[in-house]
Amino acid sequence: MQVYKAIIATACLFCCGCAQPVQQTTTPAKQTIARGKSLYAALCAACHGRDARGNVGPDLTVTHFKYGKSRAAIERTIMYGRPGGMPAFGSQLKQDEIVSLADYILSLQ
Ligand code: HEC
Repeated sequence: MQVYKAIIATACLFCCGCAQPVQQTTTPAKQTIARGKSLYAALCAACHGRDARGNVGPDLTVTHFKYGKSRAAIERTIMYGRPGGMPAFGSQLKQDEIVSLADYILSLQ
C-alpha cells in the first residue's frame, strides 16, 4: 500500500510540475545564459541590436521594461509577442530555449 501511495504521490508531483508555467528559481547557470546569448544573436539582434541596446525594438539593457522585467513577463513577451511589433516566438522555440533567452536578458544591464 505504501508503495502505491508513493507512486501516486510521485506521479502527481510530476504532473503538477508539468502544468506549472516556465519557472526557474535557482540562479541560472552560465551555460544557459550562453545559450540564450547565441539564440539572441540569431533571432533577436536584428531588431534589438547586437548589444541589446535597441534598434527597431527597445533597449533590453534598461532597468524598467514596458511590460515588466520579471522572468514571467519576459517569457510571455517572447512566447506571445507584444502589439507594438514584437513577434511571437512560441511556435518556433522550445520552453527551455525561452527560459535561456530570459536568463540572458535578465543578465544584461
Ligand atoms: C521584428 C523585430 C523584433 C524581433 C525579431 C524581436 N523583437 Fe522584441 N520587440 C520588438 C518591438 C518593436 C518591441 C516593442 C513592443 C511593444 O512596445 O509593444 C519588442 C519588445 C520586446 C520585449 C519587451 C520589452 C519591454 O520593454 O517590455 C522583450 C523582452 C523582447 N522584445 C525580447 C525579444 C527577444 C528575446 C527576441 C528574440 C527571440 C525578440 N525580442 C525579437 C521587436 C522585435
